[in-house]
Amino acid sequence: MESPFKANILKGKVALITGGGSGIGFEISTQFGKHGASVAIMGRRKQVVDSAVANLQSLGISAAGFEGDVRKQEDAKRVLESAFKHFGKIDILVNGAAGNFLVSPEDLSPNGFRTVLDIDAVGTFTMCHEALPYLKKGGLGQSLSGGGIILNISATLHYTAAWYQINVAAAKAAVDAIGRNLALEWGTDYDIRVNGIAPGPISGTPGMSKLVPEEINSKAKDFMPLYKLGEKWDIAMAALYLASDAGKYINGTTLIVDGGLWLSRPRHLPKDEVKQVSRAVEKKSRNAPAGVPSSKL
Ligand code: COA
Repeated sequence: MESPFKANILKGKVALITGGGSGIGFEISTQFGKHGASVAIMGRRKQVVDSAVANLQSLGISAAGFEGDVRKQEDAKRVLESAFKHFGKIDILVNGAAGNFLVSPEDLSPNGFRTVLDIDAVGTFTMCHEALPYLKKGGLGQSLSGGGIILNISATLHYTAAWYQINVAAAKAAVDAIGRNLALEWGTDYDIRVNGIAPGPISGTPGMSKLVPEEINSKAKDFMPLYKLGEKWDIAMAALYLASDAGKYINGTTLIVDGGLWLSRPRHLPKDEVKQVSRAVEKKSRNAPAGVPSSKL
C-alpha cells in the first residue's frame, strides 16, 4: 500500500532499529528509508542483517547493518558507536528486538522467564541508556534546538492477561514502564520524546507464526473488532507518525495498533435477543410495585 505521508517527512534523520532485519522491524526500516531517513539495522544474525541492508539499498535507501545482541551492553555500545561513525548522528532509536515463545507458567524455567525479560525489557533499557549521548539535545551530532526520539515496540498482552505468555506479558509491562519514565525524565532533561507502539496480531511476522500456530478460529469473528489481522505496514505507518513532526507533541504514550482487538470479549447474548430481553426486563420493573425487585415478580 502506498504511504499517505509525504516522502520527505524523515529527510536527514538517522534511525537505528534493533530487530530491524526482519518482520515488523524490517518494515519500519523500509518505510523510514522511503520517507527520507538513513537506516542502521542491529540484529543478532549476520545473514539476516546483511540481506536486509542489501534489500534497503536496492530501494535506494541509505542503510548499514551491525551485528549485535541487545542483551550485551558492549554490543549496544559498539553498534551505536559504529552507526554514529557511519552516519554522523543518530536521531531515532527503535527498540524492535524481542523474544517470545508459548509456554505455560509451570513449564517455564526461571531462566526462560529471565531470557525474554533480558531481551525485551533489559535490552530496551540498555539501548536507551547507551543511546542517550547521541539522542539528547546538544548531544553527539545533535543540534541545540531539539533532542531525538525513542520508539519501543510493545504489546497489549499485559493489559489484561494472556495465556502461555507470562514472560512476554511481564517483559512488555516493563517496556511500557520504561517508556513512560524516560518520557518524563528525558523529555524534561534532554528534550527526547519516548513513545511505544502496541501491535495486535500482524500477518507475516515471526511473532505471528510462533504465537498463533493455527489460523484464528472463524468463531472469533463474533467478538473481534474489525476481525482481521494487521499488516506490518500498519505498524510502520504508526511509527512514521510518532517519529515525524506529526507527533511532535506526543510523549509517553503507547499507541495501540490492533484494530481494537484487545477490547474483544465473547458476546454473551445474540443481538436480536438483547432487544426482547431488555424490553421485557424494563416492562417488568416499570410495573413492579415500589421497592419490589423485578426478580421477585
Ligand atoms: N518453551 C519453554 N522454555 C523455553 C522455550 C520454549 N519454547 N524456548 C526456550 N526456552 C527456555 C530454555 O529452555 C532456556 O531455559 P533453561 O536454561 O532453564 O533450560 C531459556 O529459555 C533460554 O533459552 P535459549 O534457547 O538458551 O535462549 P536463546 O538466547 O538462544 O534464545 C529465545 C532466546 C528463546 C527467546 C529465542 O526464541 C529467540 O532467540 N527469539 C528471538 C526471535 C523471536 O522470538 N521473535 C519473535 C518476536 S515476537
